[in-house]
Amino acid sequence: MAGAAAWNPLRASTFLPFTWDLALPADDRKAFVDWMVANRLEDAKFLGQRWDRLQVMVRNKDVWEDSVKRAFLMTPRDEFVPTRNRSHAYDNNFLDIGYGVTISGPHLVGHMTSSLGVARGAKVLEIGTGSGYQSAVLAHLTDQVFSIEIIKPLAERTRGIYDGLISRGYDEFKAVTTKNADGYYGWEEHAPFDRIIVTCGIDHVPPPLLQQLKPQGAMLVPVGPPGAQRVLRIVKEQTADGGARISRSDIYNGRIVPFVPFKKLEGDKISGTHNT
Ligand SMILES: C[S@@+](CC[C@H](N)C(=O)[O-])C[C@H]1O[C@@H](n2cnc3c(N)ncnc32)[C@H](O)[C@@H]1O
Repeated sequence: MAGAAAWNPLRASTFLPFTWDLALPADDRKAFVDWMVANRLEDAKFLGQRWDRLQVMVRNKDVWEDSVKRAFLMTPRDEFVPTRNRSHAYDNNFLDIGYGVTISGPHLVGHMTSSLGVARGAKVLEIGTGSGYQSAVLAHLTDQVFSIEIIKPLAERTRGIYDGLISRGYDEFKAVTTKNADGYYGWEEHAPFDRIIVTCGIDHVPPPLLQQLKPQGAMLVPVGPPGAQRVLRIVKEQTADGGARISRSDIYNGRIVPFVPFKKLEGDKISGTHNT
């Protein structure tokens, strides 16, 4: 038939929803980009940058699990970065997202996500939703992600980003439940959690978060003085007598990583921090 274009699987125009067994090509840059363009209708330029960033993260040992590599490849970081910074979405940098806070750099997100060790079905709590990117990565590892943000307009803006992506077919983000609150007190209604990830810095481990961690659960929390934290991995082990023992390790072996401060809500006003 004259003029009829042959069907080309690389030009399919329907969005392929996320499933746990998606056949994502993860061994070859071109195959990955073509597959994502065809099935997820994403921009080839950003996809290439995403692929290239992952290769550096793997070489740098910031990502070491296949599940996390795949989560990184599936997550459109460019959608979680304000338009003015979008061309830098895959740089090895944190970026300004407004309201005086940042989206963490991809290497830090990769290192923390790999260190967290999230199994499918695990219940995960994040403190500090920010741009929404960290929870978006987690949504490719488990279907129960809870995230708390203290800055109300930022929490609302990010909820809008998830909802916009869900309406475009990114069903995986239905796994992310968000609220605007002071995350110091955790989220009692959904506790206990298998994993907790804190993305703002504080000088101690918040006792309510420790309390809301399941036995054998693990929490990542940046602990230290302002702007100079160490990212600790806290594991709550159950002892034979039914008590709990806490073990701590440093995911960067002593390297200092500066984080946005863990702020405090008094009434409906953000006032100071939770540092002692
Ligand atoms: C490094 S930033 C955002 C990182 C974020 N996970 C991302 O993927 O973009 C840390 C966030 O923690 C938030 N934050 C600070 N104190 C908080 C608190 N007490 N409860 C909840 N969020 C808090 C900040 O407003 C900021 O958005």
